[in-house]
Amino acid sequence: MGGDGYLGWPTAMSFAAKGHQVCVVDNYLRRQMAIETRSEALIPTPNLHDRAKIFESASGYKMEVKIGDCADYRFFSNLFKEFAPDAVVHYAEQPSAPYSMINFDAAHLTLNNNLNTTFNLIWAVKEFNPNCHIIKLGTMGEYGTPNIDIEEGWLEVEHKGRKHKFLYPRQAGSLYHTTKVLDTDLLWFYVRAYGIQVTDLMQGPVYGIATEEADIDDRLVPNFHYDDIFGTLINRFLVQAVAGIPLTVYGKGGQTRGYLNLKDTIRCVEIAMSNPPGKGQLRIFNQFTELFSVNEMADKVKRVGANLGLDVLVRSIENPRKEPENHYYNVVNSGLKDLGLNPNLLTDEVLEGMLRRVIMHKDRISTDKILPRVSWNK
Ligand SMILES: NC(=O)c1ccc[n+]([C@@H]2O[C@H](COP(=O)([O-])OP(=O)(O)OC[C@H]3O[C@@H](n4cnc5c(N)ncnc54)[C@H](O)[C@@H]3O)[C@@H](O)[C@H]2O)c1
Repeated sequence: MGGDGYLGWPTAMSFAAKGHQVCVVDNYLRRQMAIETRSEALIPTPNLHDRAKIFESASGYKMEVKIGDCADYRFFSNLFKEFAPDAVVHYAEQPSAPYSMINFDAAHLTLNNNLNTTFNLIWAVKEFNPNCHIIKLGTMGEYGTPNIDIEEGWLEVEHKGRKHKFLYPRQAGSLYHTTKVLDTDLLWFYVRAYGIQVTDLMQGPVYGIATEEADIDDRLVPNFHYDDIFGTLINRFLVQAVAGIPLTVYGKGGQTRGYLNLKDTIRCVEIAMSNPPGKGQLRIFNQFTELFSVNEMADKVKRVGANLGLDVLVRSIENPRKEPENHYYNVVNSGLKDLGLNPNLLTDEVLEGMLRRVIMHKDRISTDKILPRVSWNK
């Protein structure tokens, strides 16, 4: 679900190349939102049917493509019955915090789309194949930045001499992140009520466009967004470095998050799929490999940019987001490593490879998409 997206497309190629029977479904919501908000990707990508054809002729691996809305139960349940999957990877959500904070319409779309895709998947599984494993993408942003250690999904609470294990308390910083909190609650309810099996991956920001399959042909490149609404921090900084715009550090720059390479996202999903939690289980992993603050990331990009002859400046600008800019952040992330994740780290070579790709497309950078256009800090 969401097979045309940044993560969905390379995941689909990787699973097909490993011999799985893959069906990708997408309704191009993301491409539409990008056009509506003037947030088009840096590198143009073929549509999903064409991508699948190019992949098949370049690699020999096939996948099925369906264009349709997973928030429409009639469409989705028919597809689910017809394809009869053993596992579903659910990426099909509106994934941008700034987008979800634009106005009523954007908030409404985010809430309805994200909750309904999850709800429809739960119901299709419950009705047509209760053994199907749901692998759902959540976000580390569900936890917020509490002043205590963040555990892997659950917290054992001792209260007046008695103990109970609860979902770790969640306090998100945007409506988008809040829809992920609500998704987790929905999944947990249906796991308790009907014994379905779910892996909920609390993922940090992902970077990278190189994967084994994407590297076969330039036209298979994953989506690369660098604007203020859909671009993640690393993409934004790389493009700013190439465009000669000072890196936009929001506020004090102490905001710390757990990052991971796109190759590791694919590996984590694969690990989750190969090790299902078992019926009646909601299993939660914190999916990231390294912690960086915004300031640390700016320093890295500045240093690597200098190696390529770029004179990178860093400037703090008013934070458009309501969020702590210096905070405690200590997070457990051992679950996926215990099951075999061997992280690809953010080395200077990796950053340099991404910078070189951006430089190749320098002429397509549109500088009016770089400074924040959405703010919720007033
Ligand atoms: N990219 C990251 O850094 C990151 C980090 C943490 C969590 N996530 C989560 O991972 C998932 C995938 O993220 P992404 O970066 O690939 O986002 P993306 O927007 O690139 O991909 C999502 C895809 O789902 C599709 N989609 C959305 N709603 C749909 C619907 N109703 N029916 C059919 N298709 C629909 C979109 O068109 C898009 O192609 C999202 O749930 C996101 O919240 C991403």
